[in-house]
Amino acid sequence: MKKWTQTHNPAGRVAYVNGRYLPHAHAAVHIEDRGLQLGDSIYEVCRIEGGVLLDEQGHLDRLERSLAAIELPMPVARAALPPILRELTRRNRLRDGLIYLQVTRGAFRRDHPIPDSDARPTLILTARAGDPALAAARLAQGVTVMTRIDERWARRDIKTTQLLPAVLAKTAVRRAGAAEAWLVDGDGFVTEGGSTNGWIVDADGTLVTRPLSRDILPGVTRAVVLAAAQAAGLAVAERKFTVAQAQAAREAFLTSASGAAVPVVAIDGRPVGDGRPGPLTRRLQGLYAERSGGGGK
Ligand code: PDD
Repeated sequence: MKKWTQTHNPAGRVAYVNGRYLPHAHAAVHIEDRGLQLGDSIYEVCRIEGGVLLDEQGHLDRLERSLAAIELPMPVARAALPPILRELTRRNRLRDGLIYLQVTRGAFRRDHPIPDSDARPTLILTARAGDPALAAARLAQGVTVMTRIDERWARRDIKTTQLLPAVLAKTAVRRAGAAEAWLVDGDGFVTEGGSTNGWIVDADGTLVTRPLSRDILPGVTRAVVLAAAQAAGLAVAERKFTVAQAQAAREAFLTSASGAAVPVVAIDGRPVGDGRPGPLTRRLQGLYAERSGGGGK
């Protein structure tokens, strides 16, 4: 299994820090970096499949949008990012895996307000190999989710690294044996997963996902799956759904850069449908894999 060498040999990994490609173990940021001290930073996670970065424009669009929302300038010109992403993929000999990209406001004497002095954002990237066999098993067999109260802030549409509520929710459900937390708002509606968007197929066979707002992250994979479903003539509705509606649904699934249309086979211990991945979820997996313009093999 030669291609997993880097997973088992982290010493071979290469990271990127402010213009330099460095051995992963030696890549570091300043001790007073505002990303570290204040969570004053934005991130993206992109999927590499067959050596190609998927949905690149969607990730770059969202990065620009998140940065603008917190008054953080792009660390380099947008056009400079794809070459960096490709170079990191190449240096890590990455075929299938994830690239993590983070922009922080940089290092300053600690003080909460955004510094008036010159912007000096920090740009860091890391690469990690995935296991296609594991990813395929998740798509084929599905996962279980458990619900938790959504305790995050009011601007969940910005992809910040302030992830403590997701960390705690995902830890609690992982310890209870589930793969993902479905977060629930004060009115009993599912917002999204701890690090995924949530979907159901209702009794009429309509594909349902929560509409975009400040309540959820505008998932890049969500947008691709939505467009693919519409292009295929499937019935799609962007509307909220409750936990009870999800448990009574025919099918349910998750989308994220780490897995498009991952079947949800149980919610809080109650099987969804017959407790196995459903046909529409399978179809969407296929549509996502075939989508045009996203790269792929
Ligand atoms: N998470 N919702 C939340 C809260 C997320 O953190 C993510 C992504 C998504 C899905 O977005 P996308 O399809 O663009 O990956 C939805 C990444 C993968 C993470 O934090 O690891």
